[in-house]
Amino acid sequence: MARVIAICNAKGGVGKTTTAVNLGGYLALHGKKTLLIDFDPQANASSALGHNTLVDTPTIYHGILGEHSPSSLIKSSDVHGLSYIPSGSHLSGALVELVNVPEREYCLRKFIAGIRHNYDYILIDLPPSLSLLVVNGLVAADEVLIPVQAEYYSLEGLGQLLQTIDLVRKNLRHPLGVAGAVLTMYDRRERLSREVGRNLREHFPHYVYSVEIPKSIALAEAPSFAKPVLLHDPQSIGAVAYKRLALEIMGQENHNQINPGFGNFNL
Ligand SMILES: Nc1ncnc2c1ncn2[C@@H]1O[C@H](COP(=O)(O)OP(=O)(O)OP(=O)(O)O)[C@@H](O)[C@H]1O
Ligand SMILES: [Mg+2]
Repeated sequence: MARVIAICNAKGGVGKTTTAVNLGGYLALHGKKTLLIDFDPQANASSALGHNTLVDTPTIYHGILGEHSPSSLIKSSDVHGLSYIPSGSHLSGALVELVNVPEREYCLRKFIAGIRHNYDYILIDLPPSLSLLVVNGLVAADEVLIPVQAEYYSLEGLGQLLQTIDLVRKNLRHPLGVAGAVLTMYDRRERLSREVGRNLREHFPHYVYSVEIPKSIALAEAPSFAKPVLLHDPQSIGAVAYKRLALEIMGQENHNQINPGFGNFNL
């Protein structure tokens, strides 16, 4: 039965999609059957895996509305063992269309229920917001993985994200766990990076992965080749870091991730 992990941060451009695509690649390389669900109308993960987002193909939007079965939406990537379900711009319309649907927070969860036994990992790449789409992603997941960019404002907003997770737990009665936070675009030569890292490790009430994802040109340019970094430049520092993150996440498999009782995380 898959471990379903939502990759979430309301802040934009912090490395959610880069993490989803490259973590997915390395989990698959380590023999874990992995499905990446692109749940962001920007569809960056889809194009990073080689999907032509200009062609009007069915997407996760049609899946959550029940118009297409999961099996008809799943695509193979160039990495053996890594599949994905594409997104598209019309997913943003779902925010409005779902408003009157009963149990509208559970659409993605219901969609995943029929396929989760086929995978070891299902990763959900979420958009930069705390919208109904994100709530759907959180309700569908067992755990949240939070990429945190090593930048000045990065820790602001994390408290709000943890409160949203808490609301999902309490109001939607979903025992969502926090797998951990991972520092991204980290430059150990920069004082600011080290400070953000130290603050996160001191104050974040959950696990912070020991690996930091460095700034890496290979990671930034791999999407333009429509490939995860492991097929583009596996020797690069970015590739090595995501490989280590995959191993760290696999190492959590037998731990109980549910870790309730937070909400006063203020930096
Ligand atoms: N470790 C890294 N080193 C260098 N560039 C990176 C790294 N991680 C991400 N980037 C680049 O930073 C930009 C934002 O990354 P990404 O798209 O993964 O963020 P995101 O959180 O998914 O953004 P959004 O909130 O818009 O969905 C992209 O251009 C990406 O290539
Ligand atoms: Mg993204």
